[in-house]
Amino acid sequence: MIKKDLSFHIFEAESLEELSQEEQKLVLLAKEMTQKAYAPYSEFFVGAAVLLENGEVITGSNQENGAYPSGLCAERVAVFAASAMFPGIQMKVIAVSAKTTHLKIEEPVSPCGACRQVLLEYEVLQKAPIRVLLAKDDGKILIVEKVHDLLPLSFSGNDLKKNDPG
Ligand code: THU
Repeated sequence: MIKKDLSFHIFEAESLEELSQEEQKLVLLAKEMTQKAYAPYSEFFVGAAVLLENGEVITGSNQENGAYPSGLCAERVAVFAASAMFPGIQMKVIAVSAKTTHLKIEEPVSPCGACRQVLLEYEVLQKAPIRVLLAKDDGKILIVEKVHDLLPLSFSGNDLKKNDPG
């Protein structure tokens, strides 16, 4: 048996100024989008903004429902809309931000497992990394270079492809 180590990098920016202008705008948009969340049940308001290769920016916020599991996270609202509106156009960066009235958010909110899986699908499809920017209200930003880093040993749609019988 051999032991294998997996590793990835996270960059931490103390403030927005450490990011490119393009990414600064994206983070600000994600923060703005927390205001548009429909989250009456959790009161946890999440915003997301996706920058596409063609320069378009698509935003999303979490949308909840009285039948709880029917809601959707901000990240999936944003990437599904991006793929629906601009199918086949690469996603370069996604920024995510969260706000709540009843808790102090200590660390930047990080996408849930289901969102990681959905983001990974697009990353695998486009064969190019999607950068993930996780912003906190006080200005700190975590930067992950690609979705795969957030979901190692992942399952992807490629695993469903049948082998060529030859
Ligand atoms: N939520 C998101 O929108 N994104 C995340 O990364 C984590 C959680 C939403 C789902 C639900 O509406 C609320 O936050 C509480 O879990």
